[in-house]
Amino acid sequence: MRKNHFLTLLLGVSLSAFSIVIFFIVLFIFCRRKQSSAESDQYDVESPDYNKQGFSSETEELVTFHGGEDLTICDILDAPGEVIGKSSYGTLYKASLQRSGKIRVLRFLRPVCTVRSDSKEFNGVIETLGSVRHENLVPLLGFYAGNRGEKLMVHPFFASGNLSEFIRSRDDESIKWMNILSITIGISKALDYLHTGMQKPIVHGNLKSKNILLNSSFEPQISDFGLHLLLNRTAGQEILDVSAAEGYKAPELIKMKEVSKESDLYSLGVIMLELVSGKEPINENPTGDDEFYLPDFIRNAVLDHKLSDLYRPEILRSNGNVSEECVLKYIQLAMSCCSPSPSLRPNVKQVLGKLKEIRRC
Ligand SMILES: *[C@@H]1O[C@H](CO)[C@@H](O)[C@H](O)[C@H]1NC(C)=O
Ligand SMILES: *[C@@H]1O[C@H](CO)[C@@H](O)[C@H](O)[C@H]1NC(C)=O
Ligand SMILES: *[C@@H]1O[C@H](CO)[C@@H](O)[C@H](O)[C@H]1NC(C)=O
Ligand SMILES: *[C@@H]1O[C@H](CO)[C@@H](O)[C@H](O)[C@H]1NC(C)=O
Repeated sequence: MRKNHFLTLLLGVSLSAFSIVIFFIVLFIFCRRKQSSAESDQYDVESPDYNKQGFSSETEELVTFHGGEDLTICDILDAPGEVIGKSSYGTLYKASLQRSGKIRVLRFLRPVCTVRSDSKEFNGVIETLGSVRHENLVPLLGFYAGNRGEKLMVHPFFASGNLSEFIRSRDDESIKWMNILSITIGISKALDYLHTGMQKPIVHGNLKSKNILLNSSFEPQISDFGLHLLLNRTAGQEILDVSAAEGYKAPELIKMKEVSKESDLYSLGVIMLELVSGKEPINENPTGDDEFYLPDFIRNAVLDHKLSDLYRPEILRSNGNVSEECVLKYIQLAMSCCSPSPSLRPNVKQVLGKLKEIRRC
């Protein structure tokens, strides 16, 4: 049975993830060995890198956080997994833990893409990320660092999909003004917590609709926050390049490479416009010049002086009583977040204040 799962996993992972496969093999063997110590000698032959002192060494450990106390290394690595996402720096798996029956998301970070994990600073980052608890943020339940540099993050699984999917689905729920507002407020609350609610602020660094999950009552749960803190410069730059093509990257990041609270606000503005327009914020030509830094559909509306092009008319019809004026206020707020100059963007507390006004209007 276990062998079947393992084969499925092997097939599901492409050559580019070869190192992850090796990682699984080694841990699979380890888990087998631990569970059947009588047979352990025969596995030792197959795993020369894992001699008897292997896993007790201090360089490999699983750190658990609130809600993840019951995790064990074998629990996670023996779990049958299905690939649900891939990026240049890692792979996401949906895994079901066999002992507890819980479904978890496992995020593997490729060793070459990550920074070294043996520094004090790194441990500080993990502690900080693990301490984040907010109803609109996907928590980190556990973190594992292997002695080959492989890193694994454990998160809860959300079955209802991501915000990008939701917006594109065009079903009745996605055009309800109340949903659009409450999703925006949820995202802003999460960002407010990251920016102002922690001892050391966390910049999200890669805010986009695909990184926002929804639960069954359409409450947003933001994932991937602070991941840039674990990646090396090249891998971090690759994320920004993707983000530029997807339209969420603030124009100042073309010159300065450091993500900031202000660049998060820019991404928030783009997501707001994505929510009201239903359009994907593709940027065909992210040059950073003048108004051309904006995603195509926003730029066109600005150049034509037609902000009313930025919302779906169905929104007004779906809510008898929402006026166009309210929707335009929301669009203006989004546009102020998308200001070319970081210092002209509102901070997240100001955004929340405005959203509450708009909710009353
Ligand atoms: C959805 O998330 C919100 C906020 O985290 C929570 O209050 C609510 O109970 C959740 N709903 C469901 C059905 O899980
Ligand atoms: C988000 O949803 C899209 C479908 O619109 C899907 O292709 C993608 O894999 C999802 N992304 C993540 C990170 O879950
Ligand atoms: C950083 O990550 C990239 C992959 O994105 C890798 O090719 C490169 O070797 C890494 N650079 C350093 C200095 O570790
Ligand atoms: C609009 O408002 C009126 C009164 O303020 C209310 O009777 C009516 O049910 C509302 N319509 C909708 C679709 O919410």
